[in-house]
Amino acid sequence: MEKIALGPMPYMSVMPTLLVGASVKGKPNYMTAAWATVACMAPPMVCVAVNKGRFTAVGIEKNRTFSLNVPAVHQVIETDHCGLVSGSNEDKSTVFHSFYGNLKTAPLAQECPVNIECRVFRSVDCGSHTLYIGEVVEIHADRSCLTDGKLDIEKIKPIIYAQYAYYGVGNQVEKAFFAGKKYTRKV
Ligand SMILES: Cc1cc2nc3c(=O)[nH]c(=O)nc-3n(C[C@H](O)[C@H](O)[C@H](O)COP(=O)(O)O)c2cc1C
Repeated sequence: MEKIALGPMPYMSVMPTLLVGASVKGKPNYMTAAWATVACMAPPMVCVAVNKGRFTAVGIEKNRTFSLNVPAVHQVIETDHCGLVSGSNEDKSTVFHSFYGNLKTAPLAQECPVNIECRVFRSVDCGSHTLYIGEVVEIHADRSCLTDGKLDIEKIKPIIYAQYAYYGVGNQVEKAFFAGKKYTRKV
């Protein structure tokens, strides 16, 4: 298959659509973020790349805490709004109702089915963005999004971000850590 070199860029095929919650100047602020993933299993850690100019960065730097909130597809308007507007220009504290968990300075969005409460473990200055690696202090989940006590993606209905657009989750194609057992060596 012919390959075309497209040049270096921060590409990932698909990304989650999340809301970074931070307390800025005494108020909750929510910022849309797609540049986020898992960083470690034990202890559990996640990470998010935040542009240094974001209002959100002010709150994370001050409190050393943040939250990653998982919006559902029906919250796409509010979610995109938080990525279009900066808290430095407009108060975003009422876009979602906020509650607080163990950390008293990481606002959690009540309407989002899953809330990941984080304490900053490390922050890495990467250039335009700071990569905040957060130790997960608690996961808060809507009871309605659990099946047998576990988070269920079909109930959460998270938003996928790719190619400047939002997508829902498609069909399961196979079971992970299982499909590979069908592999047969190519000769
Ligand atoms: C889909 C989407 C994904 C985004 N992902 C990120 C991201 O990962 N990191 C980031 O710094 N900004 C990201 N942004 C931009 C911020 O959300 C946007 O600049 C926002 O207004 C910043 O809010 P704040 O200034 O209140 O922190 C994204 C925006 C959208 C719409």
